[in-house]
Amino acid sequence: MPSPTPNQPLHAQHQVPVREITLGLLGCGSVGTAFLQLLERRRQVFDDMGVRIRVTGVLVRDAARPRDVPAGTPLTESPDFLNECSVVVEVMGGTSRPLELLRPYLRSGRPVITANKALLAECWDELRPYALAGQLYYEASVMAGTPVIGPMSTVLRASTFQRLQAVVNGTCNFILTCMEEGHTYAAALAEAQALGYAEDPPTLDVGGFDSAHKLAVLARFCVGGDFAYDQIAVQGIEALTPELVRAAAQRGERYKLVAELRREDGGWHASVSPQALPADHALCTAGASRNAMVYEGEECGPLFFAGGGAGGMVTASAMVGDLLDWLIGFPGHVPLHGLEG
Ligand SMILES: NC(=O)c1ccc[n+]([C@@H]2O[C@H](COP(=O)([O-])OP(=O)(O)OC[C@H]3O[C@@H](n4cnc5c(N)ncnc54)[C@H](OP(=O)(O)O)[C@@H]3O)[C@@H](O)[C@H]2O)c1
Repeated sequence: MPSPTPNQPLHAQHQVPVREITLGLLGCGSVGTAFLQLLERRRQVFDDMGVRIRVTGVLVRDAARPRDVPAGTPLTESPDFLNECSVVVEVMGGTSRPLELLRPYLRSGRPVITANKALLAECWDELRPYALAGQLYYEASVMAGTPVIGPMSTVLRASTFQRLQAVVNGTCNFILTCMEEGHTYAAALAEAQALGYAEDPPTLDVGGFDSAHKLAVLARFCVGGDFAYDQIAVQGIEALTPELVRAAAQRGERYKLVAELRREDGGWHASVSPQALPADHALCTAGASRNAMVYEGEECGPLFFAGGGAGGMVTASAMVGDLLDWLIGFPGHVPLHGLEG
């Protein structure tokens, strides 16, 4: 038997037939661009699996705009390519337009990889059956490239959920850190916008709604697969003053926008609100530009996850990971089946 040649792809060494996968991409902004770049960079991994990824269409609003994407990328303003895709990656943002595009595609039983927490949080009534069927992959939707959805949808189910606390919005982290340095809320927000950290309008971030979207996604692995987004009490950071931040510092505390799920009065209480936490609390020491989550289960004890929670390539790394999971044959992220109390 001939010995394998080290530089040859595994499928060539072992005569695995090459399988062509047609992939459609909805959106080519920060995450979509990085996703295409990472597909190129990890080509050897796909080669080793005997898979060739063919991108059949990349939907954008303006196909003529120059972009930093691999040569030959089929940019288009028409979603017709969805008919011929075996997998779709959604990174366009919003809720109604992506749902409208994905609806017929999902109905035909094909898989979707998405980073869109707003879509998952707000359109769950319609998406949940597809998630239960294992068709939805969404590791990147919460804490981007820091894996939390994977463990929560698999091994952590063995433990009885008790409590979750998380800091999942980098823009608020940045603003609160600036306020600790003496800036007003308005000045800190203006700085975040000037640096491109905050959208205009910034309501989704500073109003707490982005954190609430992420908490809704997480809650479906903790307390019930039909957990609704509007069950979350949401308060943003807009009313925080430098005086409050300074007083907290004098008590040895720091303000964070905390997404929390805990037992209260015999039920589950979900909230997003600014909280002054001890400065040595795990959510404070994770680092200003990072996301962090403390997950408490009765049997597994407290667990701590921290890492990058935004950025094109950080997010794309989780999405290419989801694509690999699908190719290997793992189902998507399946929520709990019923509302458990
Ligand atoms: N950025 C992050 O760090 C991050 C992290 C985690 C999750 N996410 C999620 O990932 C998704 C994408 O984020 P992003 O930062 O990459 O957004 P982005 O930079 O604004 O990119 C959005 C892309 O979608 C296209 N698009 C939007 N609406 C469209 C429409 N109606 N028809 C056709 N194309 C449309 C845009 O086309 P044009 O380029 O032509 O305008 C653009 O290419 C969002 O759901 C976001 O919440 C982002």
